[in-house]
Amino acid sequence: MNINGRHYRTIWLKEPECRIVRIINQLALPFSFEILDLRTVEDIRRAIKDMYVRGAGLIGAAAAFGMYLAALEAGDGSFDADLAAAARILKGTRPTASNLAWAVDRMLAVLSGRTEPAAQKRETALRAAREIADGDAEECKSIGLHGLELLRDIAQKKPGETVNVLTHCNAGWLAFVDYGSALSPVYAALDSGVKVHVWVDETRPRNQGASLTAWELGHHGVDHDLVPDNAGGHLMQHGLVDLVITGADRVTRRGDAANKIGTYLKALAARENGVPFYVALPSSTFDFSMKDGVAEIPIEERDATEVRCVTGMTGRGSLETVRICPDTTPARNWGFDVTPARYITGLITGRGICAASEKEILKLYPGGNNG
Ligand code: MRU
Repeated sequence: MNINGRHYRTIWLKEPECRIVRIINQLALPFSFEILDLRTVEDIRRAIKDMYVRGAGLIGAAAAFGMYLAALEAGDGSFDADLAAAARILKGTRPTASNLAWAVDRMLAVLSGRTEPAAQKRETALRAAREIADGDAEECKSIGLHGLELLRDIAQKKPGETVNVLTHCNAGWLAFVDYGSALSPVYAALDSGVKVHVWVDETRPRNQGASLTAWELGHHGVDHDLVPDNAGGHLMQHGLVDLVITGADRVTRRGDAANKIGTYLKALAARENGVPFYVALPSSTFDFSMKDGVAEIPIEERDATEVRCVTGMTGRGSLETVRICPDTTPARNWGFDVTPARYITGLITGRGICAASEKEILKLYPGGNNG
């Protein structure tokens, strides 16, 4: 997508050597636009763990490039063992989004047990990591085109009026390699002249809505308003939301969807108010090994500091973190929740829109997410 007239992906290799991975530093947004260089597996581990990169698709692509750097670092005689060690490190960074483990496993499947010289294996690793990143971008573009049909249908039913979408967290291009999942239909709508407006949940505690979604929508000229996380129910009661579209971090084979904490409450409010609730995802977000999302999806619990404090820009222009509760107040901080399939109107995938059910998902993905 474009920033100040220049096209960026969220992750790429520094040409022509292709030994350095470049990312947009999401910790600096929305206050400054910074590019960071990652040179080692440890750099990638830290970038994922400490959220310099975030969002399901992007951490998958970062992990794939991490495995490529692992191939560069691996000893000729210990190539497979070194790659397996890097895979364990990368998979240990964040547990909920399935894209990360999917990308690492795919890299391992391509690279393990090969007999050619190490230099050739490194070429293969480079090609495989690029394929994962390119695949993510292509799939997200296609999610946008399928989702666009939903927005067009709504626009036709209210000629001349704006289509109001509510989204939670960041599932835009910053969360993937390009385009995004939940926001991809919004960008497609903008490109094809459908009038669209987005309600952006702030998404406490890390405020991905306020700092990332609002930033990228603003850069693309999409009409939007930031709202407190608790406003969604009120907006829906008053007919101000035509549909909800969120992303997902892991979707089970029957369609239960883990996404940023607070998503489930939006789905309940949507059901109560007859508002369609869609989840947009690339195939790498499906976890076909799981069925019951509430029981099976591992939910990351993060540091309580994120709840007890907020970080922002002061009037004097310095970035500061301040506490918002008594010094002694304990806090808990689950990063994600699971919306059961019965609350999901449909899944917007790169292959089309389907019901959130095992039968319909398997019709689109008969070979799972590697087929
Ligand atoms: O900032 P994160 O990585 O903790 O947030 C994860 C997400 O980006 C969201 O849950 C998002 O909606 C999933 S779609 C990329």
